[in-house]
Amino acid sequence: MKVDGKHYRSIWLGSDGWSVCAIDQRRLPHEFVVAKITTCEEAADAIRGMLVRGAPLIGATAAFGMALGMRDDRSDPGIDRAYEMLIATRPTAINLKWALDTMSTMLRRLAPSERRDAAYARAVDIAGEDVTINRGIASHGLALIEAAAARKKPGEAVNVLTHCNAGWLATVDWGTATAPIYLAHDSGIPIHVWVDETRPRNQGASLTAWELGHHGVAHTVIPDNTGGHLMQHGMVDLAIVGTDRVAANGDVCNKIGTYLKALAAHDNGVPFYVALPSPTIDFAVAEGRQIPIEQRSAQEVTEMTGRTSDGRIETVRIVPPGSPVANYGFDVTPARLVTGLITERGVLQADGAALAAAFPERARPTNY
Ligand code: MRU
Repeated sequence: MKVDGKHYRSIWLGSDGWSVCAIDQRRLPHEFVVAKITTCEEAADAIRGMLVRGAPLIGATAAFGMALGMRDDRSDPGIDRAYEMLIATRPTAINLKWALDTMSTMLRRLAPSERRDAAYARAVDIAGEDVTINRGIASHGLALIEAAAARKKPGEAVNVLTHCNAGWLATVDWGTATAPIYLAHDSGIPIHVWVDETRPRNQGASLTAWELGHHGVAHTVIPDNTGGHLMQHGMVDLAIVGTDRVAANGDVCNKIGTYLKALAAHDNGVPFYVALPSPTIDFAVAEGRQIPIEQRSAQEVTEMTGRTSDGRIETVRIVPPGSPVANYGFDVTPARLVTGLITERGVLQADGAALAAAFPERARPTNY
């Protein structure tokens, strides 16, 4: 997507042909900085420290991390070391394991001398495939927005609520939840997005709002507790969120707070859609409660970072010293609260049979 008129992806191969460039998401929306990643260790640090984040981008970064690892050590133990370092970074997004399994299975079949070039080629492909998949999600999701637009008065905007950042920054390009929104906007459908701020890291307020603004999509940032009120007053036509892992039964794990929005949507008859690329489906996990939920640092809750009126970026404490905090990164929305799963192969019912029928090759575990 575009940043000040220039097209960017969230991650790309450097012009030297070996280093990896990524937009540093810790600095947005205050500063636009491109980071250079030069080793597998740096790729792992980038994922762990959330320089990059969002399930599909975590997967793409891990794939590039394996390629960087192959520059140093192309042996079988070298593959194992890179895999172990990267898999330990974040527990919830299954795209990480998917990308690492895809890379290591492919690399192990090759002679060590072939591994570095093959790893780079596959990492570049994984990034490119993500863009193609998200473009597919965009077309299938567009039909839902068109249907909502047909129910509006001429010129009236379709109101979409989203949570966290499942935008192009969370993927390689287009985003998942935002892909249909961008396509609708580009097709001339009036659209407005309610952006949940998404405490504690504020990925909605800092990243989704930034993206939508740069693409010219009308949006309003709302405190996380606002969605239910808007839905009660007919101000949300549909909700679209992303996901870090979908269980085999259609349960959806996404950023903490998603479940509450799904409950409010259910109570108010607002369609609640989840957009996902197929690598986000985990057929090895039967139901959502088995998905590991990341618990993150207390600092994310006790502190807030922002830009002061005189331009300085500062972090301040907002919780009394000594008050304990809990910071669960994700929650699980049961499949029964999900109206549909927007995938690259169409909009599916959130249930095991529909997922397995749409992705039979993935439904056989370990067959990457
Ligand atoms: O902790 P984050 O910022 O990595 O969490 C991101 C989300 O929860 C996204 O909604 C999810 O990864 C889907 S991204 C297309």
